[in-house]
Amino acid sequence: MKNIDHLSITPEVIARFADCSEPRLKFLLTELVQSLHDYARKVELTELELMAAIGFLTATGQKCDDKRQEFILLSDVLGLSMLAVAQNNKFPPEATEATVFGPFYVDGAPSYAHGDDIANGAQGEPLYVTATVSDLHGKPIVNALVHTWQADSDGFYDVQRPDQDMQARGNFRTDGEGRIHFRSILPVAYPVPTDGPVGDILRASGRHPWRPAHVHFMIEAPGYRTLVTHIFREGDQYLESDVVFGVRSSLVAQMPRREAGALTPLGEASTRAFHTLDVQFRLTDAT
Ligand code: BEZ
Ligand code: FE
Repeated sequence: MKNIDHLSITPEVIARFADCSEPRLKFLLTELVQSLHDYARKVELTELELMAAIGFLTATGQKCDDKRQEFILLSDVLGLSMLAVAQNNKFPPEATEATVFGPFYVDGAPSYAHGDDIANGAQGEPLYVTATVSDLHGKPIVNALVHTWQADSDGFYDVQRPDQDMQARGNFRTDGEGRIHFRSILPVAYPVPTDGPVGDILRASGRHPWRPAHVHFMIEAPGYRTLVTHIFREGDQYLESDVVFGVRSSLVAQMPRREAGALTPLGEASTRAFHTLDVQFRLTDAT
């Protein structure tokens, strides 16, 4: 077809996907073209703006490496990650809610025994975590695999520090009562990385880059849907304005402070002030 204009181009492009043999791919591409074209017409996109957008996406790709995923961060700050989480994890109300995975999970984190300190040198006030994993009726799930990871008191994950060993991350297996307990450090609020194109967007639009303090959990057990979630610290100033829109009220928990000398959940008198966190995770069936 010749003499295409700004309206007739849309059905013409979509028609070129007619022979796509994979129905879902065909649907995704067709809808993408339709939405992109509608957007360009609605905002009256200029050629200069299109080149700026292409430059931005190029820089986003160039910022990615094996430790940095700027495209995930872009999806996060645009709310696309949380939208996908929300529409794909419509669990029953008794189930623990899911939230964003984020870019800082690392495969191959150490496996720990109950009561171990996973900080491995990361700085922060001690936090004693007790968690139980159950089904929707409260029946404990034995031998569930619980992954946890978090930032240190400077707001950095181990992977953000050059040549850093794994810190404040690890895996546990639930015991016969569906329980794990371990020592870590108190999470603090931290900014998402702002030294790349996503940071430029946040600054240009006057948005802050902060996430409220949280600890990440991913829980796997045969017969149950894998749960990816966080527990947020009650009282954090960014709970209402998380830069990646990940907060759910059901995931906010107290992490009360105890003075030095108090007994820790492990039954020892602590030489330092510490915090505690008790949390219950309820998994939904895989079917
Ligand atoms: C995180 O919580 O680790 C995270 C999530 C989204 C973007 C950046 C960080
Ligand atoms: Fe995080």
